[in-house]
Amino acid sequence: MTEAALNAQLEELRRATLAGFASAVSLEELESTRVEALGRKGTLAQISKNLAKLLPEERARLGKLLNAVKQDLEQEYASKQRRFEQAALAERLSREWIDVSLPAPGLRPGSLHPVTQVQQEIEDLFTSLGFAVLEGPEVETEEHNFDALNIPPTHPARDMQDTFWLANGHLLRTHTSPVQVRGMRKFGPPLRLIAPGRTFRNEEVDASHEHTFYQLEGMMVDRDVSVANLIYFMRTLLASVFKREVMLRLRPGYFPFVEPGFELDIRCLICDGSGCAVCKQSGWVELLPCGLVHPNVLRMSDIDPDEWGGFAFGLGLTRLAMMRYGIDDIRLLQSGDLRFLTQF
Ligand code: PHE
Repeated sequence: MTEAALNAQLEELRRATLAGFASAVSLEELESTRVEALGRKGTLAQISKNLAKLLPEERARLGKLLNAVKQDLEQEYASKQRRFEQAALAERLSREWIDVSLPAPGLRPGSLHPVTQVQQEIEDLFTSLGFAVLEGPEVETEEHNFDALNIPPTHPARDMQDTFWLANGHLLRTHTSPVQVRGMRKFGPPLRLIAPGRTFRNEEVDASHEHTFYQLEGMMVDRDVSVANLIYFMRTLLASVFKREVMLRLRPGYFPFVEPGFELDIRCLICDGSGCAVCKQSGWVELLPCGLVHPNVLRMSDIDPDEWGGFAFGLGLTRLAMMRYGIDDIRLLQSGDLRFLTQF
């Protein structure tokens, strides 16, 4: 091959490769154009092989040209490569840009559970009336949960159907009343306490029954405590919860740890007594059991019933929260479902 032909080949290589670089739209295209021209088996390598066959001065001239072409192409390649990299970086930066001064999008403030809200209101009320707020364990002894409350072994509450018994003979408390016992034994008379907390019964779960629910126990032990005192505190409690005066009545009710024992009903807040589905047309809604503390219960906690007396009540906190907020399915309360919880 003549010097002139090789010269023409080199010039063509330069032109074509520069054009290839110019039209490349990606790093990959740029790279493949470079390999074709400058790679180990590329066009330039082919041409340089043919140089060996030329005369020395021809070879010197062409060698110079070849180096110049090579340099031109490498330079152009490098600058175009830089431009691609800069564009890629700029694109990535604009894609990943974040405004660090914006509030985090995942931040959603929570709210207190409806049962907690009612519980805290009642705690505030009774604290202002001189009552202590006590907590008792959810795993209780049979003695605290039953015997010390004058509940005989034959009482249905002790039945397998109602109580979650544990293998070690203890149980999940079926009511908050064992905290009465703990309070009397710890503080002695006179005393005023409330004890909100979780209670457990082996119930078939449906819209109005749960195996886990909340009660709020109340107890006052002092000299000369009468049913009048009980009614006064219940009236104060209900007016505070429902934010209005409510009419109430007492019916006899049986609980082994109170004597006399009552079921306290309130005038239905939905129909005002004229009869509706909520009060089952009776005009009254059963709300809380209560009574005067049975002498046996005082005695079993080392309190002399000739000197001291008291009242106790067991408020169904879960039921009360449902009535207060118009919740018609008890299962919602422990569903953890945000669609439900965010409404409060
Ligand atoms: N502990 C009783 C229950 O869970 C309720 C109650 C408490 C009744 C205090 C009277 C006095 O059924």
